[in-house]
Amino acid sequence: MKKTVLVTGGCGFIGANFVRLLLETRPDWQIINLDKLTYAGNLLSLEDISDQENYHFVKGDICDKGLLEKLFADHQIDTVVHFAAESHVDRSITGPAEFIQTNIVGTFTLLESAKKQWLDNGSGGTELCRFLHVSTDEVYGSLGATGLFTEETNYDPRSPYSASKASSDHLVRAYFHTYDLPILITNCSNNYGPYQFPEKLIPLVLNNGLQGKELPVYGDGGNVRDWLYVRDHCEAIALVVEQGVVGESYNIGGHNEMNNLQVVELLCAMLDEKVGMLPSGEPRTSLITFVNDRLGHDRRYAIDADKIDQQLGWTPKLTFEQGIDKTVDWYLANRVWMDSVMDGSYRKYYEKMYG
Ligand code: NAD
Ligand code: DAU
Repeated sequence: MKKTVLVTGGCGFIGANFVRLLLETRPDWQIINLDKLTYAGNLLSLEDISDQENYHFVKGDICDKGLLEKLFADHQIDTVVHFAAESHVDRSITGPAEFIQTNIVGTFTLLESAKKQWLDNGSGGTELCRFLHVSTDEVYGSLGATGLFTEETNYDPRSPYSASKASSDHLVRAYFHTYDLPILITNCSNNYGPYQFPEKLIPLVLNNGLQGKELPVYGDGGNVRDWLYVRDHCEAIALVVEQGVVGESYNIGGHNEMNNLQVVELLCAMLDEKVGMLPSGEPRTSLITFVNDRLGHDRRYAIDADKIDQQLGWTPKLTFEQGIDKTVDWYLANRVWMDSVMDGSYRKYYEKMYG
């Protein structure tokens, strides 16, 4: 079915992968990508598709009410897939203000604009409208050695990042219960894959490992995350947009728990095999450095993704072994992308293109 989709944060890691998925698999959807181009937004991640007819980029802030109202009205947007956020936990610990602004105020502003266009303006029914809010498993807090997060797990966010995402989830749900805004929420585990900013564990280790730099492991390296290949996450989101039940939340996960030290050691072994040992002849595990733990570091996340499997028939297509192999190969083949992020030149691309 034809749709006009406002993708927020489409120049970030998951958003860029999602835009690519839509262009490949839903060619009749019109895509408006609204992105503020913070440090995490990278137009180079979409450079090769930027002139496609059904793709349109707008530089702007989800907190800008006037801009949002204009976009909704001008493009007759019927679907929102909301990725835009401050996403890095460590940054939320040292500077939470941006997280409150974008993740809470920005989501509120987007909800208000969708409500105005779809409900208040009486533009003719919302059966086909959908507002999908992309959220995280971190809203559920931290698990002990056993157990899984289900959609019924109580919220217990513990970092400024997860608290801001939990707030936005509550607002999104409130707009459904109060105003009947047709919302959906997805709560996903840790993603990895192409175009991820190298502040996150996997691309950071790949980048440092290739350059022979230290590989920082927080605390004892025993914190557990449930890793999912980004394309699988994007396919789940597209499916929820199309077939999810309005008002519902869906957990998305990789059925793939690993502790951080296991992940880092695996990446070291893969790089040693694919590009050879360090110039000193040592394996890359020699670069592993245990550093001070993250404040309030959540010990373990693990997702029960039964609901989306049973109700919508989604399971990840790739095993971790397949996904991580593709990912390492992608970073090796795309050193130019990584180098432009590391030397800051990716910031200049926008000025060159758009003045
Ligand atoms: P990211 O940090 O890579 O990208 C965020 C994007 O949002 C950037 O392009 C940035 O420029 C844009 N942005 C930030 N503030 C904005 C604003 N005020 N207005 C418009 N655009 C703005 O993030 P990501 O890892 O791709 O995550 C995307 C979403 O998915 C986030 O909402 C995050 O909470 C959620 N999520 C991420 C993961 C993960 O593992 N990365 C897992 C589950 C959920
Ligand atoms: O669970 C979903 C979340 O996953 C998303 O909501 C967040 O947006 C996303 O950033 C990610 O959060 P994490 O904090 O889990 O991801 P990060 O890559 O920052 O860290 C993964 C684990 O690795 C975590 O336990 C901290 C640890 N770590 C991280 C870095 C950057 C290290 O040990 N060393 C590091 O240098």
